[in-house]
Amino acid sequence: MAIVDESIIQQCRQDADAVSSTHDLDQIKSKYLGSKSAIRESLKHLATLDSARRKDASILVNSIKKSLGEIIFSRRAALLQEQTDRALADQGVDTTKDAAHWHIGALHPLTLTLNALKRSLQHMGFTIAFGPEAETFYYNFTALNTPRYHPAVTAQDTLYIDDDQLLRSHTSCVQIRMLEQQQPPLRIFSPGRVFRADTPDATHSPCFMQCEGLVIDHQANLSDLVSTLRCLLENFFGRSLKMRFRPSYFPFTEPSLECDIWFKDKWLEVLGCGMVHPNVLENLGIDTHKYQGYAFGLGIDRLTMLRYQIDDIRALYEGDQAFLQQEAQE
Ligand code: DAH
Repeated sequence: MAIVDESIIQQCRQDADAVSSTHDLDQIKSKYLGSKSAIRESLKHLATLDSARRKDASILVNSIKKSLGEIIFSRRAALLQEQTDRALADQGVDTTKDAAHWHIGALHPLTLTLNALKRSLQHMGFTIAFGPEAETFYYNFTALNTPRYHPAVTAQDTLYIDDDQLLRSHTSCVQIRMLEQQQPPLRIFSPGRVFRADTPDATHSPCFMQCEGLVIDHQANLSDLVSTLRCLLENFFGRSLKMRFRPSYFPFTEPSLECDIWFKDKWLEVLGCGMVHPNVLENLGIDTHKYQGYAFGLGIDRLTMLRYQIDDIRALYEGDQAFLQQEAQE
């Protein structure tokens, strides 16, 4: 039995080049490196050689074996690449074409507003809380001192899933959910999406965003409310503001107020607020001789529109690239 010589390398290369699939290449591999291959026989044969010849023969056989392995390996890589290229060509993908230009991503203006509010409120000791967007009539209205036939239910008409389930018309429901879970004192805020049965126009959207705030403590009072809101809004706009509070009505606060800011020569309403109505607290078993509190609900869209000078609320929901790109540069 002779030891293989280097001519087998050339032979193997020719055979490997001749196949066009990895399956056929497997057969070439077993022909040259398998258990019945010449190289295996040669390796076995080495043991029979005398030690003087064995060393040189062993070096030769092993180097041939290595070359054969490399030929098979690189042919396999080439075949796989051809397969990929063929698949891409079949799908009409041209990998040599220029890539589409990259668009630099940016946070949505509503997210920027939300982040700014979050930062300020957290600095003032408020903790973030979340509630579901699909709510029951109870959390959205009844528990907020608004029985089913109250006119405020019509004023906040929303989208109903059935008689009892609806898309929340405000974030005020989170006040109730939190008070059910935590004992006062409590200081929370809750941003999120809310819904109304409104036809979209420049100032209305069936889906928009609010941020609720709630403080219940032994002495939380109106003057705390006013200074908290001043701090929050002045931080947000980065300047001192002319603000005014007007009497208003919400079933869940007494007294109720609306807060306006002086903006470009006119008063603009930015939020509703008030002292939490004792009925709301008593329904939750909170002792109103010990605790009182204030709440506010501000429109994140309104603040965003003012800050970024956007005059149509729909722009915040249409996902128009040109608009978002322009805002991203702010
Ligand atoms: N929920 C009210 C609305 O959507 C806003 C509001 C008013 C929230 C007064 C409050 C509040 O927490 O105290 O119009």
